[in-house]
Amino acid sequence: MTLPTADTKSNTMERKASEKRLTKVEAEKLLAQYGQEHLLRFFEELTSQEQDQLLNQIADTDFSVLKQLHKDALQKKGRISPIRAMELPEIQEIKEELTALGLEAIRQNKVGAVLLAGGMGTRLGSDDPKGMCDIGITRPVYIFQRLIRNLLDVVDLSGAWIHLFVMTSDKNHKATVNFFQEKNYFNYPEEYIHFFQQEMAPASDYDGKVYLEAKHKIATSPNGNGGWFSSMKRAGLVKLLHQEGIEWLNVFAVDNVLQRIADPCFIGAVLRQNCKVGAKVVRKNDPDEKVGVMCLEDGHPSIVEYYELTRQLRDTRDEKGDPAYNFGVILNYLFHEPSLEQIWDRELPLHVVEKKIPYVNEEGEQIRPKEPNGYKFESLILDMIHMMDTCLPFEVERNREFAPIKNKTGVDSIESARRLLQENGIPL
Ligand code: UD1
Repeated sequence: MTLPTADTKSNTMERKASEKRLTKVEAEKLLAQYGQEHLLRFFEELTSQEQDQLLNQIADTDFSVLKQLHKDALQKKGRISPIRAMELPEIQEIKEELTALGLEAIRQNKVGAVLLAGGMGTRLGSDDPKGMCDIGITRPVYIFQRLIRNLLDVVDLSGAWIHLFVMTSDKNHKATVNFFQEKNYFNYPEEYIHFFQQEMAPASDYDGKVYLEAKHKIATSPNGNGGWFSSMKRAGLVKLLHQEGIEWLNVFAVDNVLQRIADPCFIGAVLRQNCKVGAKVVRKNDPDEKVGVMCLEDGHPSIVEYYELTRQLRDTRDEKGDPAYNFGVILNYLFHEPSLEQIWDRELPLHVVEKKIPYVNEEGEQIRPKEPNGYKFESLILDMIHMMDTCLPFEVERNREFAPIKNKTGVDSIESARRLLQENGIPL
């Protein structure tokens, strides 16, 4: 088996700072097309190295996302109807059969895992990657460490190593890679962990003028979790999937410390139902819980995000009187890789999200706003689900598999996750 060398493991998109790909005149022309000439406002004050850095960043930035501001802020959804989930009692009855099917696929090396860790974790109030957060009480327990431990449970059960692909972004790549190295990859074999970077999108004020984060640096933000597969492709990792015969990718969020990764029972269920994608779901614990809900949209699987859920949809009941849209996604999906190859280059809708964006003002002073002052642009993984023909919503017990860490305190926080971990017998 040939595994990537250290070179391919480090980000293939990094370029030498000295390499210059635009002249100032070319940059002016390009910026003028998008009304962004102000980005060269401090150009003459910069050192020649900083000038090159800025010109290169201009060459790399996709300014076309700004078009989105002139469209409707909310994406128009199609006709929404309920979707059937595979629920806990049904799963329980055939659990052994499903688990055996999943384990077989894992042992045949058909399953890989993708950790989405490119987000900025601003709600936790730290500039470090979220996965570095220590949630231990009597000893250090890092989020990354917990996730690797969860993956090791399946390695122990199946006797097979599972390739793990870790998506980072420009904001946290170095810190993430260094942390894994420093911690000796939490005892996972280094050659089975592959880092890749997602792309960045410019961040603008409310009028669509892109901010400068520093005099020589455009303010950018990770471009959302929807671009993970195209970023893997750009990093050359899809070749590795083919080489290794990986047919299924279990994609999961960094913030859920209880989640089961490459869960054989879930894999078995998606295989048995012959679906192109599976989504782990939980019953919502509150009509306003901040999770996306599974549904059909114009007959295709789809997810309505919590901030797009209308009161009418929220309150719709099924024939038994239960909420019709009650299965929330926990951001743990199993994708059929060949099906991803068919959709990866289709354009995903862009979502415009308000954000606090640090910037330099006209006078060149650094400002860190306390309130949102503009927009970031993101494509979302849930829009990929809608491009698939079939999806299996697979119910899991929330107290055993869903402990997201989003906030500093209160709901979905370190405190609530600690309680759930302890309930599951995990020493902290
Ligand atoms: C997310 C899901 C939501 C789900 C909820 C469950 C999306 C868009 N939303 O909401 O449907 O119900 O989790 O907890 O999937 N990320 C990147 N790069 C980015 C942005 C995000 O890798 O550019 C990663 C984050 O690191 C994190 C995950 O995506 O692992 C979720 O991101 P976040 O933006 O926090 O989504 P939520 O609003 O929590």
